[in-house]
Amino acid sequence: MTRRLHLNAFLMNTGHHEASWRLPESDPYAHVDLAHYVGLARIAERGTFDSLFLADGPQLWNDIAQRPSGALEPLTLLTALATATEHIGLIATASTSYNSPYNLARRFASLDIVSGGRAGWNIVTTAGAEAARNFGLDAEPAHAERYARAAEFLDVALKLWDSWEDDAIVGDKAAGVWGDDAKIHPPRHKGRYFSVAGALNVPRTPQGYPLLVQAGSSEDGKAFAARYAEAVFTAQQTLADAQAFYADLKSRTAAAGRDPEHIKVLPGIVPVIGSTEAEARANEQVLEDHIVPAHGLARLERLLQLKPGTLELDRQLPADLPSEDAVEGAKSRYTLIVQLARRERLTVRRLIGRLGGGRGHLTFAGTPEQVADAIGTWFTQGAADGFNIMPAVLPSGLETFVEQVVPILRARGLLRTEYGPRRTLRDRYGLPRPANQYALRENALV
Ligand SMILES: Cc1cc2nc3c(=O)[nH]c(=O)nc-3n(C[C@H](O)[C@H](O)[C@H](O)COP(=O)(O)O)c2cc1C
Repeated sequence: MTRRLHLNAFLMNTGHHEASWRLPESDPYAHVDLAHYVGLARIAERGTFDSLFLADGPQLWNDIAQRPSGALEPLTLLTALATATEHIGLIATASTSYNSPYNLARRFASLDIVSGGRAGWNIVTTAGAEAARNFGLDAEPAHAERYARAAEFLDVALKLWDSWEDDAIVGDKAAGVWGDDAKIHPPRHKGRYFSVAGALNVPRTPQGYPLLVQAGSSEDGKAFAARYAEAVFTAQQTLADAQAFYADLKSRTAAAGRDPEHIKVLPGIVPVIGSTEAEARANEQVLEDHIVPAHGLARLERLLQLKPGTLELDRQLPADLPSEDAVEGAKSRYTLIVQLARRERLTVRRLIGRLGGGRGHLTFAGTPEQVADAIGTWFTQGAADGFNIMPAVLPSGLETFVEQVVPILRARGLLRTEYGPRRTLRDRYGLPRPANQYALRENALV
């Protein structure tokens, strides 16, 4: 079978560029406007994307004065989008640090059923003390601790999703038998973090369980991905780094006893498109001109875990920054930003400009052909199975991508031209439907 790109539309209110909301065309209320998201989902579906994705965190950042803040709860919004779309996968972010497995497994099972098998879960451990303080903690749990809890969370969620065998519902009206008790398997789980006795109160879903996505690139993050993830979102700045990450993750997945084809690596790209290269760069400059440097500076200091007032706009980053080992928040993003600044000898002002579009994801300004070339190169040279498309401005950036880049990718045979009959999100990503762990065990006894 021809290898095809997997495209995921990473949607974020008025766009990924931090100043996008200030453009004349942008709606400052877009982040709570269902019609805005329905419009975006339909554009992505026109582009035959595999899926769309919503990021999330259970906290309000303290920069409400600076840019749109807060968001609708992703599973709720995606349930609405499920009824407004037909084909596209719906991936919600939810935290393993600040949820319980039973409630969350139930919500994702419900979305998978409501959407006809199109649900995906971006599994995050949530960095930052702000979220921790909303859930009875004084400080963020240590990085390793968050990932240990995430692993047990997944083990429990998988047991819950498998707690009904596919044929547990009999529906025999004549005999008066609705379900088969023998096909219900309560997890009876007692572990370090969770204790869950009973079966889920939602049956097994079209996909068995949602597509499992992971988005952290630290050592712990990669180990977790190799064990559980079927798709991985990642920020990579150079082809060489992306190739190294791709090879590493595939080999870790094989070492974990899984088929490396069953984990899809999707780096992010912020395409800024123009009809000429000069026009694309001018579009990028317009966005950069709308950045308020002091806001970017404060955000960068927070990201690098520095005291306010440490950085100066026209100097480079201090030489004595701590190593990744000392960071308890988002480890891999920290390293990526420090390496980017050092590699290109960027002043803080330039670094803020570079991060304004995609917070560390690759920003690429060019013509539709150049964007398609870049995507094609990473795809064919062992750096990506597809991309997280992160338009700088929404909806216009997604519209331009679908109208101008998608036809080129299709003409080159890199992207499907229509969805075809296979329906679930796993089908789109070329992944098998997972077997039920309890049914498997029973079959092994026969
Ligand atoms: C494309 C992408 C999307 C992400 N979305 C979220 C998110 O919605 N919520 C969140 O808490 N973290 C999100 N993250 C952050 C990761 O979950 C993780 O915290 C971060 O990449 C650092 O992980 P590490 O400490 O394993 O390096 C995202 C990361 C990437 C690459």
